[in-house]
Amino acid sequence: MLQRIAKPVLLLVLLVLARQAYATEGMWLPQLLSGLNEKEMKGMGMKITASDIYNINKGSLKDAIVSFGGFCTAEVISEQGLLLTNHHCGYDAIQKHSSLQNNFLENGFWAKSAVEELPNPGLFATFIVRIDDITKAALQDVKPGMSEKERQSVIDRRLNDIKQTVRRESWQDVMIKPFYEGNQYFLFVTETYRDVRLVGAPPSSIGKFGSDTDNWVWPRHTGDFSMFRIYAGKDGRPAPYSKDNVPLKPKYALTISLKGVKQNDFTMVMGFPGRTTEYLPSEAVKQTVEVLDAAKVDMRDAALKIIDGYMRKDQQIKIQYAAKYAGTANYWKKWMGEMQGVKQTNGIGKKLQYEDNYRQLMEANPVWKQKYSGVLDSLNLYYSQIQPYAQARDYYSELVKNVELFTVGDRLITFLNDVHERGEGQYETMREQFLASMQPFYQNYNAKVDHDICVSLTNLYAKAIPARYAGNEFAQIWQEHNRDGRTLSDKLYALSGLTSPEKLKAFVQQPYNTVVSQMWTDPATRLVMAMRKGFVDNVSKPLADIQANINNLQRTYMQAQMDVMSSKKAFYPDANSTLRVTYGKVDGYNPRDAIHYDFYTYLDGVMEKYVPGDYEFDVPARLIELYKKKDYGRYGVNGKMPVCFIASNHTTGGNSGSPALDAHGHLIGLNFDRTWEGTMSDINFDPAICRNIMVDIRYVLFIVDKYAGCTRLIDELKLQ
Ligand code: ARG
Ligand code: GLU
Repeated sequence: MLQRIAKPVLLLVLLVLARQAYATEGMWLPQLLSGLNEKEMKGMGMKITASDIYNINKGSLKDAIVSFGGFCTAEVISEQGLLLTNHHCGYDAIQKHSSLQNNFLENGFWAKSAVEELPNPGLFATFIVRIDDITKAALQDVKPGMSEKERQSVIDRRLNDIKQTVRRESWQDVMIKPFYEGNQYFLFVTETYRDVRLVGAPPSSIGKFGSDTDNWVWPRHTGDFSMFRIYAGKDGRPAPYSKDNVPLKPKYALTISLKGVKQNDFTMVMGFPGRTTEYLPSEAVKQTVEVLDAAKVDMRDAALKIIDGYMRKDQQIKIQYAAKYAGTANYWKKWMGEMQGVKQTNGIGKKLQYEDNYRQLMEANPVWKQKYSGVLDSLNLYYSQIQPYAQARDYYSELVKNVELFTVGDRLITFLNDVHERGEGQYETMREQFLASMQPFYQNYNAKVDHDICVSLTNLYAKAIPARYAGNEFAQIWQEHNRDGRTLSDKLYALSGLTSPEKLKAFVQQPYNTVVSQMWTDPATRLVMAMRKGFVDNVSKPLADIQANINNLQRTYMQAQMDVMSSKKAFYPDANSTLRVTYGKVDGYNPRDAIHYDFYTYLDGVMEKYVPGDYEFDVPARLIELYKKKDYGRYGVNGKMPVCFIASNHTTGGNSGSPALDAHGHLIGLNFDRTWEGTMSDINFDPAICRNIMVDIRYVLFIVDKYAGCTRLIDELKLQ
């Protein structure tokens, strides 16, 4: 059939299909919704307007959303500054308040009154007051033909002026960020509160239920939430911690809906997504999944297997390595999902097809042709040139990250460099600080585990990296040890002064100059310095040169795509930790042939997964009791307790803790993860399988109310 359709018609059909396929892709800037997205959002069922989401003249949804500590999102859910975020976002704070006697990670924590709410030095919550487009002023002095460096320096000068003169209140801050690969600039006026107190958290057996096994996986049954509260000075403005501070009266607090969602219902997620690269050329996507992800997975596979083996045998090691294991495993698993997703959805083939379309349209227009001809080809070419260096970089950084002896070596080098800069007279004071900063590291360090990781990863590194990239110094050391990771590691861990806090102390107790000269005799520091030198000389320099060309062309290619392909899709800027809105629909998906996933999970599923005493799948007795009695209060539906659901919202890391809102802008859930096959959405969003995972707000409130009995918090909320 298709062959017989005349070409222009075919093109039209493709355009329509492509446009539909992109419907839920995108992380949009809230101040641009009215022009770009409002119509589509309403078409998908949204009942509110763009100005209910972003408005600088009255309280709007954006005034309820904060960047939580710069690494997650949280939202204001009461008129007393109560914040909701994920358990894994509050994890550090909860852990810091925990002790063996009061183990809040294990047992949960509920402040019975305001005085029991716990301060968290260093934690902050940032609101967005206003977003301005300052592109014109920022790029005012940019002239064609400028080098990247010149271009950046005229822009920086402008940005500096703008920052000095921008309209803001004395307690507000200003932040400027490039968007669309540096084609546009936006300014954010922000307000940061630094007195953020812990209010409540469920036990890990609810907040982290399923742990690493279920991480990135659907169906999911995790109650991944915790609660904090923003405190302000008596005038309502940001103030450093003081016991006299008062709960913040927010400009806007979210209303909560207990109605839940049905298939195809409109949903929207607002938050601070960290980083995506959606506009890469095909060569770069291919490289990401076939070479770079594979390299990192390769190294982590080996390290994780070793840690897991020890954790299973040894209780002490299990405690020491649990958090590290989770951290390393998180992206290890994500990258595997990404590799699989791109393959399964023919992501590279689709990019190539998109590039063909782009080329045809671009070449048919003389103005575009003159401006953009050759850009995509050069970009693809530079990406293929950068590949071996990027691969070497990833192997090197995984090696140094996973072999902790090398991490210590790196930190020691940085410390000695700092001393060199500040003057040797500072050595003794700085040494004490350095040793103190290493103390927590050694508490969770086991040299035996690290030794085995070193054996495995140095072998992998030496095999994967061409000798010329690793450098002569490394080659020599490798040769001296018969090109064998075990011979090398046996020596390192037997003789190095870095394997325990006592040895490190004795090492740096010597005079500064002795320490510096011994860096070349201690086998671990010698190796670290050799590898570092190899990396800097042979990898990072050429890498940076090619990268500068890529950045420049990537900016032009971004503009080219926005000019040439604008009839096909609207363009959203890649994530850069600024406030975004994404919207989609509640829906299941088919991950593989003959498998269908539903979009809701229930407490029954928690009980199905229950393994008594297991560190991932244990269930607290009180929850089992409530389940048996079906005592769900107003939070259950038809005798069942909803737990998690999925939708096609386009999210990424940093969106953890983001509110999931319904068509009325009411809070229905809390974003905390993506499905495994869909983690590729950072480079290639496919609405067929990309889903974000949210915990249902009714499960959150059921835990607070029925499980923990913390009704004072429920009384603060606006429920519907
Ligand atoms: N995958 C989620 C996110 O990136 C949750 C991570 C925390 N949970 C865990 N089991 N490690 O980051
Ligand atoms: N868990 C992630 C976070 O901490 C969000 C999941 C994702 O990457 O989509 O931000």
